[in-house]
Amino acid sequence: MNKVIVGAQWGDEGKAKITDILAADADLIIRYQGGCNAGHTVVADGKTFKFHLIPSGILYKGKTCFIGAGTVILPESFESEVGGLIAQGIDVSGLKVSPLASVTMPYHVAADDPDGKIGSTRKGIGPTYTDKYARKGVKIQDLFEPDAPELYQKYAKIFEPYVCWDWQDMLRAHKNDRILFEGAQGVMLDVDYGTYPFVTSSNPIGGGAAVGSGYGPAMIDEVIGVAKAYVTRVGEGPFITELDDETGENIRQIGAEFGTTTGRPRRCGWFDAVTMRYAVLVGGLTQLAITKIDVFDSFDEIKLCTAYKDVRTGEICTSYPTNVNSHKYYEPVYETHAGWKRNIMGIRKYEDLPPNAKKYLARLEELLEIPIAIVSVGPQRDQTIFRGK
Ligand code: IMP
Repeated sequence: MNKVIVGAQWGDEGKAKITDILAADADLIIRYQGGCNAGHTVVADGKTFKFHLIPSGILYKGKTCFIGAGTVILPESFESEVGGLIAQGIDVSGLKVSPLASVTMPYHVAADDPDGKIGSTRKGIGPTYTDKYARKGVKIQDLFEPDAPELYQKYAKIFEPYVCWDWQDMLRAHKNDRILFEGAQGVMLDVDYGTYPFVTSSNPIGGGAAVGSGYGPAMIDEVIGVAKAYVTRVGEGPFITELDDETGENIRQIGAEFGTTTGRPRRCGWFDAVTMRYAVLVGGLTQLAITKIDVFDSFDEIKLCTAYKDVRTGEICTSYPTNVNSHKYYEPVYETHAGWKRNIMGIRKYEDLPPNAKKYLARLEELLEIPIAIVSVGPQRDQTIFRGK
């Protein structure tokens, strides 16, 4: 059973934790898009690990972790991330990098979102992809050309131990193994389907796995969308259920909503089922993992956006308006759910969740028309409920 993990919102949904758990049952873990703009935090055996590009599956011994052709790599960031893992005693011998991945050069970083219009992470992601599609990018394999300039040679040394020159054989050898495709960012940051232009420059959607990994779509059995029980966003761009009030601040503080890569406070708001229904469709999601529902433990009530109201016409819509210029005309239509007012972080079985928490989750399933397979009730590996287990 091969699975893709996809962020179902604007990134930071808690994918790393879900990936970390599912990686235990995978032989090959592939990162298929994005670069070190991603920030993944994994808490394992009481230690906190921060990842940007390297698949968190590296924490398990004996797994192959492949950084695919669809990714972009900032050499200095890669070097310090690998160095940090080695310093923490992690065995990185399973780490492999595609020679077809793109290299972020210093001029890409310098050219990234100079006026802050997009609120990018300033890791050179957009300019690296721009050059790739303009067919003037630098790929990892180019660093090893015999007549490569000095900087290329310096970078080649960083990548040399990890470049997977025989990646075709490696992928063939793993064809019947268990494969986990690890997406970064989220569906709403997808360059084709997200809140353009306030997006990243790659395809975090499930389909991106088939482009960026080297395997085709027939290799994918499940696409697991990871979503918080509320919504967060870093950077600019529309966010219809954003809360600019005490409730938003409460969510931020209880949920520790500050960026892993940039430290920026994240914008917070209620769960938006309109956007999520859209993410289910275009992200190709087949199941959901709902994270951080424990953040609501102390809440009296929880709101859930089920539709948008167009203030120009009064019309109610449940289809996502894809032109972000129109978003200022939409107001969220909320239904209110009673909170459960107890600590659920120690619960391990779905049946043991408080009735109000189960009602909220059941309503999400009804609105989104896909099953919730996983519920996360805390940052630790074991604070996870697998439905039906
Ligand atoms: P870029 O990917 O650095 O170009 O940034 C483009 C947009 O995507 C900005 O709004 C970033 O804040 C957002 N973004 C990029 N990576 C992540 C991530 O891993 N989590 C959340 N937002 C991200």
